[in-house]
Amino acid sequence: MKAVLCKAHGEPDDLVYEETASPSVGPRDVRVAIHACGVNFPDILLIQNKYQFKPDLPFSPGLEVAGEVIEVGPEVKRFKAGDRVMVTCGHGGFAEEVAADEDSVFALPDGVTYKQAAGFPITYGTTYHALVDRANLQSGEVLLVHGAAGGVGLTAVEMGKLMGATVIGTVGSDAKMDIVREYGADHVINYSNESIRDRVKELTGDKGADVIYDPVGGDAFDQSMRCIAWEGRLLVIGFASGRIPEMRANLALLKGCSVVGVFWGSFAKRDPDQNRAHFDKMLGWCAEGKLKPHVSMTFPLEQAPEALKALISRKATGKVLVEVR
Ligand SMILES: NC(=O)c1ccc[n+]([C@@H]2O[C@H](COP(=O)([O-])OP(=O)(O)OC[C@H]3O[C@@H](n4cnc5c(N)ncnc54)[C@H](OP(=O)(O)O)[C@@H]3O)[C@@H](O)[C@H]2O)c1
Repeated sequence: MKAVLCKAHGEPDDLVYEETASPSVGPRDVRVAIHACGVNFPDILLIQNKYQFKPDLPFSPGLEVAGEVIEVGPEVKRFKAGDRVMVTCGHGGFAEEVAADEDSVFALPDGVTYKQAAGFPITYGTTYHALVDRANLQSGEVLLVHGAAGGVGLTAVEMGKLMGATVIGTVGSDAKMDIVREYGADHVINYSNESIRDRVKELTGDKGADVIYDPVGGDAFDQSMRCIAWEGRLLVIGFASGRIPEMRANLALLKGCSVVGVFWGSFAKRDPDQNRAHFDKMLGWCAEGKLKPHVSMTFPLEQAPEALKALISRKATGKVLVEVR
């Protein structure tokens, strides 16, 4: 099969497109012919050797895919050849095939396309776990979402509205404001020329945001601690800005707030049944048209480095996909 391989850690242009062996199938594995692969910020960290998981070289990036089952191991119970599925494979998705444990494979209902499903699991999985399990977001609360036009951010805007919150999105450029409004944000702040703290206080009558979803870190986190409501929950999702912020504990005391870590990948491993239940619910909503995964750019497999560069340059909104078939 063809694959895009990381043979030495580095940047997207160091990746190599070449022929390699198809993945072998263990007793609990499902082998999938990949139709499309979702591109994620952690793909960049993986090839730079800065991610928390460090696969052995050579490896293919690509954490999540959608496609058709072509082989199953003898112990696999849920799937058979021909099934339409999405897979959270961890890596290996920038390729024509991938094999993964059946716990990481999810059946697609009719009405959910491979293009919708390829970028679905990590963004929606993270957001559902964050807003429901970790923040206990309530209808009527104010949800502030940073990086609101990005992969995980846009799903937080969409799901927040679905859960009945008032949603404030933040973005780094005017060009990204429209998509955030289209996905339901009540207000959008451009943090390149507006103060997050001042605008949130103004929009909430000084009360602040009840739940803050932060995949950006750095200044966005610092300002969040200044505009979080009493008993607010600040969800630590990631650090796309490149700076892991440090918090002065007195602010948590003064605000009576919680700073809550979110690690969807670890949750999915620790509680696979709950994770599958989340996906069953959300894929049902997707089939009904209540969730509309947004894909702004697609690239063929051999141009996968360009897909990663689109994230680095902050040009993409929602998801970027690598299309394999
Ligand atoms: N905790 C978890 O379980 C979990 C799960 C998935 C992802 N994550 C993390 O969440 C973060 C976002 O992932 P994603 O896949 O949604 O990425 P993405 O699609 O690239 O979105 C990231 C957003 O961050 C903003 N940003 C601010 N400064 C940036 C910079 N210097 N470089 C790039 N983007 C910058 C960009 O919006 P503007 O241009 O509008 O500022 C961009 O839309 C990553 O840190 C990722 O590791 C965590």
